[in-house]
Amino acid sequence: MIGSIDRKKLFADLEYEPHPGQLEVHMSNAPRRVLACGVRWGKSLCAAMEALSAALEPCDRSVGWVVAPTYDLAQKVYREVTFIAARHLRHRIKTVRESERMIVLRNMSGGLSEIRAKSADNPTSLLGEGLSYVIVDEAARLKPTIWQGHLSQRLIDKKGWALLISTPRGKGWFYDIWRRGQDGRDADYESWNYPSQSNPHLDAELIEAERSRLPDMVFRQEFLGDWVEGAGAVFRYVRDRATGSLQEPKPGQVYYAGVDLAKVEDYTVLVILNQDREVVFVDRFHRLDWDLQITRIKAACDRYNEASLFVDSTGVGEPVYEAMLGAGLCAQPYPFTARSKSALINNLSLLLEKDMLVLPRADIWPEGIDELEAFEYSVSEQGNVKTSAPGGTHDDCVAALGLACWHLPPTSGTVGIYCL
Ligand SMILES: Nc1ncnc2c1ncn2[C@@H]1O[C@H](COP(=O)(O)OP(=O)(O)OP(=O)(O)O)[C@@H](O)[C@H]1O
Ligand SMILES: [Mg+2]
Repeated sequence: MIGSIDRKKLFADLEYEPHPGQLEVHMSNAPRRVLACGVRWGKSLCAAMEALSAALEPCDRSVGWVVAPTYDLAQKVYREVTFIAARHLRHRIKTVRESERMIVLRNMSGGLSEIRAKSADNPTSLLGEGLSYVIVDEAARLKPTIWQGHLSQRLIDKKGWALLISTPRGKGWFYDIWRRGQDGRDADYESWNYPSQSNPHLDAELIEAERSRLPDMVFRQEFLGDWVEGAGAVFRYVRDRATGSLQEPKPGQVYYAGVDLAKVEDYTVLVILNQDREVVFVDRFHRLDWDLQITRIKAACDRYNEASLFVDSTGVGEPVYEAMLGAGLCAQPYPFTARSKSALINNLSLLLEKDMLVLPRADIWPEGIDELEAFEYSVSEQGNVKTSAPGGTHDDCVAALGLACWHLPPTSGTVGIYCL
């Protein structure tokens, strides 16, 4: 209950009735609050209400940030804030600047209070002024250096408070700060850990249905909020399989290629395998025009004995695929849908699991090995389980490798449970 305004009355005005777990967070006076709970527990809503309460506190000027690993994730709390403000506090809105993801409210004493969404994937944007408070959403996915190196320092001048919220994700830095709030270890910290089920607005039956669909470790992490190590990883044994070197083409060998074409911000990645399922060639480039990209891809495929190529033909891929055929590449389209991508990921996972794929060593293909290791299960807002790169990071190496492996004869068996 940091601050002086009557929260009970404010929440009633905002038509928000915190559930018992959320109430504990709102009542806490700790300058550092750490909330590690299962998905859909109500963390973001609770944080949005904290931001609004803070912004209404009487003062000349206050500035608060909502930070997350990417803009998309930071938008979750920020959108909730602007939505609630537009609905219940319209008379207090001074400015909304969507391009800067900033809203300014007139607080209870007529001063101005600013709330901004910030992405931690661009640390230089985290430099600057002293903050009255910071809210970190999906904190466990943040690089460890961001909290210590960039955010906590912003709070010193104004003796600001912090609320860090996340679903647990292994025992990394977020676990460490959560522990500081347990059993009175650090008087500045208070922390909580609740399962999704403690949100009374969630359908308990749906959660139970997820229990049977999901690998146990994933369910425990995502819904029970347990601190499980490595639960979300989709590809296992990545480092064990990363023992190979790139190889020059050999006469008489058959080669298989996969290419994932750049969308707006990511890379085009080309991966070539030999018939012994060893990755022999990788290439990664962006901001080249399509003709140059096609020339570069064709040169590599030609060199590897006219390797046949699977290409992601979704969206921008379609005309590029046509142009590839025109350029004489032996290309086959592979349109990405949730289902087709899941099949690709499944197959790749199985090859790694069964020790049927040799990847280049991590010093040769660092971005590929990192992407494979980071690729994870997560639960979408609609409650579906999906596999993806964490929080808006790239997955183009994974996709290109998956496409190259799609040429191989099917492997039998299943690994865990794969969902769309
Ligand atoms: N006190 C409340 N009253 C009514 N609905 C609530 C309350 N708390 C949470 N909810 C609802 O529960 C759902 C999940 O809330 P929210 O998105 O805040 O959870 P979360 O823990 O941030 O989820 P995620 O793990 O997906 O980020 C939303 O539909 C939200 O409106
Ligand atoms: Mg959330």
